[in-house]
Amino acid sequence: MTNPSRLFLFAGGNHGKWHVQSMNTIVGDPLPIVTHLEVYSESESVPETDLLWTLRGITSNERYVNQEEKKELTSKQEGLGRPQSTDAALIPIRKKPEWWALTQQERREIFEESSKHIQIGMKALPAIARRLHHCRDLSSSEPFDFLTWFEFTPEETALFDQLLADLRATPEWDFVNREIDIRLMRS
Ligand code: HEM
Repeated sequence: MTNPSRLFLFAGGNHGKWHVQSMNTIVGDPLPIVTHLEVYSESESVPETDLLWTLRGITSNERYVNQEEKKELTSKQEGLGRPQSTDAALIPIRKKPEWWALTQQERREIFEESSKHIQIGMKALPAIARRLHHCRDLSSSEPFDFLTWFEFTPEETALFDQLLADLRATPEWDFVNREIDIRLMRS
């Protein structure tokens, strides 16, 4: 069996499969405005022209979920690329140095015991499909810590907005110091 690609590149410019509907800077520095986005895996060659920015991230092992949560997630979640999921969101996120100074146990405490990230997220399954990319594992100078990617149908936009509002109101988000909400529609 071939090893599926774990490294992904998100390229913003004036061409690509995804049309940018909006780019909303929630906190921190914005990214240059683009009209289109293309997602490349490491096996694909990336054109070097007409790109305003590229962001890289890699999928990784889970850090927080326990066995019970993993089981529930696996039974509920659906994969990316569903034909009816014509809308997507790319939300790059960076967390404050204070977050990274905590121990793994302290982070889990904030992430789930007090913020209930997984419990909140679970309510949006299977409507919202997702993939989490880590950036810190690639180099120490990436502009974001995470690239979060979501796919859903246009009818599920309100559900997605509510999910974001719920998560942004949690103690976990007190540690977020850069976040850009990029909404996309597939051509
Ligand atoms: C669709 C429903 C969602 C579910 C089921 C969900 C579930 C999860 C789970 C299980 C993890 C931990 C993975 C691990 O163990 O390492 C995680 C991490 C993360 N999620 Fe979500 N999530 C959802 C939505 C969102 C949304 C809307 C955002 C905001 C953009 C988001 C941002 C993140 C980030 C940044 C992390 C990494 C946290 C860290 O390692 O510090 N998630 N999510």
